[in-house]
Amino acid sequence: WVLMVTAQTPTNIAVIKYWGKRDENLILPINDSISVTLDPAHLCTTTTVAVSPAFTQDRMWLNGKEISLSGGRYQNCLREIRSRANDVEDKKKGIKITKKGWEKLHLHIASYNNFPTAAGLASSAAGFACLVFSLAKLMNAKEDNGQLSAIARQGSGSACRSLYGGFVKWIMGKEENGSDSIAAQLVDEKHWDELVILIAVVSSRQKETSSTSGMRETVETSPLIQHRASEVVPKRIIQMEEAIRNRDFPTFTRLTCSDSNQFHAVCLDTSPPIFYMNDTSHRIISCVEKWNRSEGTPQVAYTFDAGPNAVLIARNRKAATLLLQRLLFYFPPESGADLNSYVVGDKSI
Ligand code: DP6
Repeated sequence: WVLMVTAQTPTNIAVIKYWGKRDENLILPINDSISVTLDPAHLCTTTTVAVSPAFTQDRMWLNGKEISLSGGRYQNCLREIRSRANDVEDKKKGIKITKKGWEKLHLHIASYNNFPTAAGLASSAAGFACLVFSLAKLMNAKEDNGQLSAIARQGSGSACRSLYGGFVKWIMGKEENGSDSIAAQLVDEKHWDELVILIAVVSSRQKETSSTSGMRETVETSPLIQHRASEVVPKRIIQMEEAIRNRDFPTFTRLTCSDSNQFHAVCLDTSPPIFYMNDTSHRIISCVEKWNRSEGTPQVAYTFDAGPNAVLIARNRKAATLLLQRLLFYFPPESGADLNSYVVGDKSI
């Protein structure tokens, strides 16, 4: 017999960034962060987990290709979730697995991203969130999404925020064992549903410095990062929570853009400096800044993660349509800007 569960999890985009760890193994951050979870129809991971007495070892396939589960991050997630397994019974199939029985059984895991991994768009957030969620369902773990987020966090920090929709806060926590470093939903996906998220794929090349090693180098060498984590972000978190609750787009835009720019500033302050954005990214920033200023009130917020692709959050569908027209005008396909496609990360326009 085989018992299977399939789950789907969208990726999330931080508007107040997580950058820097206080514990590398447990993945504990040096500041709180806030993100928006995308619509599941775009940029999501679908994972099927299966258990059978016929399986002789844990195995995993990512987009059809087998990958190794021997890394510490996978092992931590699997161990944590196994320790929370409960009795599972499927009377129709005549299957009964006891709490103890899970220890001897092996898992097969198949995970797919609905976007090309090579597109340089973060996939680990959705991937680990989906892995932990589907295993929790298969093993009848009773933990709520907050508790599951603390397990997904040990796969990849940003993954903990993908357990919820809407706007989500990852509370850094104080405990040494990480038990209070969990995600919590600020508002659900219906709260601010006029927003439209576009991703301008500036380059589909894989990033040169991974987030994991980039943030380690920043913490080790940047004099600015401590100021950011202890002085700037705590204030921004309070203001951002309020802006989201009030659907205050001008404040939301100011905070989102400043936080992205400060994150890239601490990357530049790292030794040797880390460059995630390129000329096209910079031109997109100028284009959006100019447009926002000429309108008198902001139409679009921009934010860039550990790569050159722009995440653009438009205040409504009309602004998103105008934004798309502008991007096509400034970066026509023949411009050589390597801006090859637009993914609409929310409702299509
Ligand atoms: C710039 O979650 O990918 O996207 O915890 O080492 O796996 P690890 O890092 P990761 O870092 C994400 C960094 C970011 C900002 C953010 O998502 O908050």
